[in-house]
Amino acid sequence: MACMRFQHFGLLGILWLPVFCIVGGLEMYTVDKVLATCGDNVTLPCNITTEVALDIKEFKWMEKNDICHWGVEKNLTSMQCANVTSQNSYDFPLTIFNIQPEHKGTYHCKLRSKEGTKNGQTIVRVQKCVGDALVNVSSAEGTCLFEGVYPKPTVVLWKQGHDESVQHWSKTDVKENADGFFTAVSTIKLRNGRHGG
Ligand SMILES: *[C@@H]1O[C@H](CO)[C@@H](O)[C@H](O)[C@H]1NC(C)=O
Ligand SMILES: *[C@@H]1O[C@H](CO)[C@@H](O)[C@H](O)[C@H]1NC(C)=O
Ligand SMILES: *[C@@H]1O[C@H](CO)[C@@H](O)[C@H](O)[C@H]1NC(C)=O
Ligand SMILES: *[C@@H]1O[C@H](CO)[C@@H](O)[C@H](O)[C@H]1NC(C)=O
Ligand SMILES: *[C@@H]1O[C@H](CO)[C@@H](O)[C@H](O)[C@H]1NC(C)=O
Repeated sequence: MACMRFQHFGLLGILWLPVFCIVGGLEMYTVDKVLATCGDNVTLPCNITTEVALDIKEFKWMEKNDICHWGVEKNLTSMQCANVTSQNSYDFPLTIFNIQPEHKGTYHCKLRSKEGTKNGQTIVRVQKCVGDALVNVSSAEGTCLFEGVYPKPTVVLWKQGHDESVQHWSKTDVKENADGFFTAVSTIKLRNGRHGG
């Protein structure tokens, strides 16, 4: 925000002197990236520090859509926005409960106030989501089904005792489900009488 001031210098005409009214150190603190583990509660900070009280026009968290607005109570099921004001700060953390792959994305914290505008963003990634595994091993073939896996699995390891050489007889199919999780089905051909799992 800048102010302009002009002064008259007699016959010299008008001389413009720009005076920048920098509002006392308006800063926003967010973190760039968060790598969260499935099931955790994750808090994304958004903290405004300022030397003057802010006349807030809009202060919100959004991803694709608005999540919450400062000063507006909203019942969210899987998230919560808190607001804490102290003399020099406006603290507006967003907590995501029981984080799941569907929560991955870019979260924006946006402030619009009479004293200035600030935008911050946090990229959220989710890791280590593994649902249930179903194992079915017969004498000729073994099947292992993993549901609710995230991120996308790259390899399913088959072991037979301490011997990992059975790996090259296996085949793994990976499907992405609508909820962002993956289903992996790995099958392995077994020689007579040998068992893997
Ligand atoms: C997440 O928060 C909820 C509600 O506060 C709590 O019940 C749960 O134990 C927390 N989970 C973890 C993993 O901290
Ligand atoms: C927000 O900033 C204020 C001022 O720097 C600081 O006292 C406070 O601890 C910060 N809050 C968080 C959650 O980082
Ligand atoms: C902060 O949140 C509380 C309860 O959620 C609400 O009553 C209050 O109005 C909020 N204050 C601001 C400044 O948003
Ligand atoms: C939010 O939920 C609480 C408890 O479930 C309820 O008492 C309150 O009226 C709800 N507030 C809004 C704005 O829906
Ligand atoms: C295990 O696999 C065999 C042969 O592929 C099949 O006949 C059987 O129904 C499977 N059992 C289970 C519990 O899926």
